[in-house]
Amino acid sequence: QQVYLNGEYLPLAEAKVSVLDRGFLFGDGVYEVIPAYKGRLFRLEDHINRLNNSLAGIRLPLNCSVAEWEAIFRPLLATDGRDQYIYLQVTRGWAPKRDHAFPEHTTPTVFAMAADIQPFAGRSEGIKAITLDDTRWQLCDIKAITLLANILLRQEAVDRGCAEAILVKNGYVIEGAASNVFAAIDGELITPPKGHEILPGITRDVILELAEAHQIPYREDIIALEALQQASEVWVVSSTREIVPVVNLDGAAIGDGKPGPLWKRMDELLQAYKN
Ligand code: PDD
Repeated sequence: QQVYLNGEYLPLAEAKVSVLDRGFLFGDGVYEVIPAYKGRLFRLEDHINRLNNSLAGIRLPLNCSVAEWEAIFRPLLATDGRDQYIYLQVTRGWAPKRDHAFPEHTTPTVFAMAADIQPFAGRSEGIKAITLDDTRWQLCDIKAITLLANILLRQEAVDRGCAEAILVKNGYVIEGAASNVFAAIDGELITPPKGHEILPGITRDVILELAEAHQIPYREDIIALEALQQASEVWVVSSTREIVPVVNLDGAAIGDGKPGPLWKRMDELLQAYKN
């Protein structure tokens, strides 16, 4: 498998970065996960816009147009029409001395690789989820590679037989450890509003657009934990898993414990839209 590293394409095993890279030492970098369905990059411009916001958020200047990124990604993608995603990571690069403050002269480390999207059984069957206190920092709209809190939260969910952790702050639902959250309440689709507390998910945007286009009532609004527990449907959504119905939350059934009708409708709309 060929990967991209700092202007070169090379076999994965030969792609190496310095142990002094600030991504390794500090988690000083940002990333993107961009799906490519049948070889076509999905919502590339939105992903690059979000990348640019993340880069600005960590004060890392890097000017690369959507067309330039596309030219970098293209040779990485399979040509047999299978579904993949591009993983892109940009760090502040390496410096000779370990120092928290930015070094004066660094060149960002840019790494990209393609990977197959694994079919996720939970997407059609539904998953169990648990709610956990959101232990992350206050700039969750930056897609930072520094993911320790997310990792610990997701692992806790897995350890308890669940596929996702839904994070709660001051009694309100924020997002998943690696997903955004939707609830269907009284026939209306609700998702928490954008802000520093959540990652502005591209899948989330697409779902809201599809709801608008197909006259499905929706609202961006805060969701209390009790409201989530009483919702007729709960979904966690992301680029790699798409729209996943949560059928059991903290050990109690959501709705009738099966993927709901609104999920079925939105999943069909998304499948039609992305292909
Ligand atoms: N994660 N919120 C968080 C914290 C996420 O990590 C992700 C995605 C999302 C959904 O964003 P999008 O719809 O743009 O994928 C929300 C990716 C898939 C990951 O870290 O692998």
